Amino acid sequence: MDGARRTRIFVASTNHKKLRELMELLAGAPFEIVGAGDISPPLPEIEETGATFDENAALKAQAASLHSGMLTLADDSGLEVDALGGSPGVLSARYATDNNKNASDGANRKKLLFALRDVSAPARSARFRCAIAVARGGKVILTSTGAVEGNIIETERGTGGFGYDPLFVPSGFDRTFAEMSTSEKAAISHRARALASLKPRLVELILTLS
Ligand code: IMP
Repeated sequence: MDGARRTRIFVASTNHKKLRELMELLAGAPFEIVGAGDISPPLPEIEETGATFDENAALKAQAASLHSGMLTLADDSGLEVDALGGSPGVLSARYATDNNKNASDGANRKKLLFALRDVSAPARSARFRCAIAVARGGKVILTSTGAVEGNIIETERGTGGFGYDPLFVPSGFDRTFAEMSTSEKAAISHRARALASLKPRLVELILTLS
């Protein structure tokens, strides 16, 4: 176990709030987590050219594992809105820009509300999806996915979380993700679901490596 404790995993996200959620969800596992702020030279921007969350998670994990030289975990996630044919999807972070750069969370939410202005409540169904890939030396060795169904409300509520959280009410609840505590969101989120099935496989992998 001591050998396993020394194993380091690079969690390759430059989104601080997403990184914090990933670190909290991975807490207690027998490895040391290294965040994007802890490596030098810093992680360069990785172009997300994939058509799916799975492809982008793999692209990020592959490139970041080559950059860091460490076992690397990457998350690609986003929101699919049924009334918008699945948009913003893989473009969730870049939804409100037209130059392929990330927009602010507020600008993305504003654009989403405008796109749904004529869509009434029953048709505002949506889901968050998360794909996770773990890579070493540029090769993906573990993958996992998770999703959470819900609805997009008409006015932002709550200050917690990040991204589209103030607009998303998960099915079976009456509060947005941004109105929930960290642990409430962590019990049902797309990211938590993806990690729930990945974490035991990751621990097993690390025990075999150490
Ligand atoms: P990525 O960093 O390219 O995976 O972009 C993910 C984007 O999807 C974020 O910038 C958010 O806009 C959105 N997103 C992903 N997960 C969440 C979440 O848990 N809550 C709210 N928005 C999320």
